[in-house]
Amino acid sequence: MPRTFLQELNRFDANLPLARAKTIPGQWYRDPRMELAERRGVFGAAWQFVGRSTQLEAPGSFVTADIAGEPVVIVRDDKGVLRAFFNVCRHRAACVVTEPAGTTRRLRCRYHGWTYDLAGHLQGAPEFDGVLNFRREDNGLLPIAVETWGPFVFVNLGPQPRPLHQVLAPLPEKLDGLAGLRFVEHRSYELACNWKVFVDNYLDGGYHVNSVHPSLAGVLQYSKYRTECFDLTTLQTSPLRTPHPEHADASASAVRMGEMAFYAWVFPNFMVNLYSGVMDTNVVLPLGPERCRVEIDFYISHSDGPEARAFAAESVEVGHKIQLEDVGVCEDVQRGFGSKSYDTGRYSVRREAAVHHFHKLLSAHLRRTVRGASAKRIPRGALPKAGHTAAARTQEGSRRSRLPRAR
Ligand code: FES
Ligand SMILES: [Fe+2]
Repeated sequence: MPRTFLQELNRFDANLPLARAKTIPGQWYRDPRMELAERRGVFGAAWQFVGRSTQLEAPGSFVTADIAGEPVVIVRDDKGVLRAFFNVCRHRAACVVTEPAGTTRRLRCRYHGWTYDLAGHLQGAPEFDGVLNFRREDNGLLPIAVETWGPFVFVNLGPQPRPLHQVLAPLPEKLDGLAGLRFVEHRSYELACNWKVFVDNYLDGGYHVNSVHPSLAGVLQYSKYRTECFDLTTLQTSPLRTPHPEHADASASAVRMGEMAFYAWVFPNFMVNLYSGVMDTNVVLPLGPERCRVEIDFYISHSDGPEARAFAAESVEVGHKIQLEDVGVCEDVQRGFGSKSYDTGRYSVRREAAVHHFHKLLSAHLRRTVRGASAKRIPRGALPKAGHTAAARTQEGSRRSRLPRAR
């Protein structure tokens, strides 16, 4: 008999210490109910990266995004205040801003022409005279929380989210090399795996580096690779070294320099890879139970002049190659999760503390969603509904462009 959603959640015991713990089941990477619950309890409740601060500097500049199926628009208003709204017209729910990014003086819904100012106030509602009990001041765009961390802009769809700096702690003080880096290129990758496979792979404490990334292995001091877990973040660090000149692939050493590599993760899906003068960010977005998209932004400290441009291009190429190596193993793992031979696995105590931390956070967020549903008297079995409806909705969600369209 198929398990209820709560029974499925109960299969992961978050109370066991790392040395005794078993991983979340492979089924969690395939189950449409899980994807639906994650939308609500994870992506719909966590700070989500939506774009770069430099895209939102001038008054009237905006970007749009899709967070957990919710259209949002982020805009710098006339007074310089950064604002974010549900990008849903209060008249008949059309998407108000349909461009991925740009600059505007007001937000005009193309359906029937309602206009909102950059602070979200309804300014004009054509041919609405005579409508009783209708007040413009009650029909502005609904705001959502927006905050920045250096070059990154985040929004949160929750009603009273924790301040971003609390969630990020202690990453901002540990990653003090962000200032001065400039965005150079964006790339996007679609993977045939659940988004959590990508996160697990990212958080495995360098466990796969030697076997999957030979060029990166040449520059990391693997024996000194460290992982720290905080409340909603983790930080992996490794001292760098100059690879042996006869190392098979020394390409990474030319563009991954300095003394330390920093690999920071913010629950659930934002990652920062920082070296001296070089950085890339990864955002992984679900596209259904067994697909995801990884959005990567590349930054370097100097991007002017032919030499800097050549360095940037080489750096992006090295990042691209590493990404393709990860794609291969992630898609393998997803296929394995579909095998009847696999249920759960164990964690390396030495390497995989951050994977365990991620699974515990995920489990806690999903449990909170179930409790929230119970409190609202939604039958537990109905959250989320198994079967056709859930799967169909998931596919529908995946067809819509997910997050940052503004690249
Ligand atoms: S739906 Fe926006 S004006 Fe009608
Ligand atoms: Fe990797």
